[in-house]
Amino acid sequence: SWTMLNIVEDAVEAVRAQVGDGRAICALSGGVDSAVAAAIVQRAIGDRLTCVFVDHGLLRKGEAEQVERDFVEVTGVKLRVVDASERFLKALSGVTDPEEKRKIIGREFIRVFEDEQRAILADGPVDFLVQGTLYPDVVESGGGTGTANIKSHHNVGGLPEDLKFDLVEPLRTLFKDEVRRAGEELGLPAAMVWRQPFPGPGLGIRIIGEVTRERLDLLREADAIAREELTRAGLDRDIWQCPVVLLADVRSVGVQGDGRTYGHPVVLRPVTSEDAMTADWARVPYDVLSRISTRITNEVREVNRVVLDVTSKPPGTIEWE
Ligand code: XMP
Repeated sequence: SWTMLNIVEDAVEAVRAQVGDGRAICALSGGVDSAVAAAIVQRAIGDRLTCVFVDHGLLRKGEAEQVERDFVEVTGVKLRVVDASERFLKALSGVTDPEEKRKIIGREFIRVFEDEQRAILADGPVDFLVQGTLYPDVVESGGGTGTANIKSHHNVGGLPEDLKFDLVEPLRTLFKDEVRRAGEELGLPAAMVWRQPFPGPGLGIRIIGEVTRERLDLLREADAIAREELTRAGLDRDIWQCPVVLLADVRSVGVQGDGRTYGHPVVLRPVTSEDAMTADWARVPYDVLSRISTRITNEVREVNRVVLDVTSKPPGTIEWE
């Protein structure tokens, strides 16, 4: 639309004015905010923007490819991809406490990003750091500017204290729906533009118990099936998000074919919400739940039971960890 074009064009102009002929870096998370911010800055300064995508191995099926392939194809952004999954797994090995997991994931992210930063700085100075801060984040953090005032909401995007960068925040005046529309205007992949909220620590906090590669693979499959069926049923806009949680340390007896199974349950946690502060469990139609359950137990080895979380928030949180 005409207004949306203006929003994008104005943002591009503002970035051009701010950055001049300087260089900028941006961490991509797979989410819509960092993607739209990066796409705008790319339009403004082209190859003087370098994006970094730290693949921590905790994303859902297809999400890394969306960033590495689709996003790059559409935007022409200069991207450095770091496959850091081995490193994250090692750091998470033996860890079961949710907050401990978050701390480790945040810490490793910063370390990997700093290494990349150093590599990028070797090609010349970088003065700017791009962040996908939205208007509601600005309000929430008191409207300050100029520093990396990241919500302590343990985001993987948290960055080191001693940053010497000026922040470039092209989404600072926008609300989420405007960001999505800008993303469409910029031609970004629909799956990115319309992605529901997904936590920075990713699947790491959706495995109850230790995070291992095998467990991640199981959960990725189960999650992909649930998302596919919810999308196919046309429920994406009605549901705020639907965590799929692997109870990795729980086993229950089942029967399949002529055999007894002793597998893990997964929990479906579809919720409706306005802002994630409160939530209600989503009344997903039985036939959709049934398809999800049948497919997961048929297609995901080791999972023999699918259960539905019918707790509102409060008292339950949306995530299980
Ligand atoms: P809870 O579980 O607290 O979640 O009801 C509220 C919203 O926040 C998301 N969430 C996170 N997002 N890092 C994030 O970036 C996190 O560690 C984290 N924990 C929860 C959750 O997905 C929901 O949208």
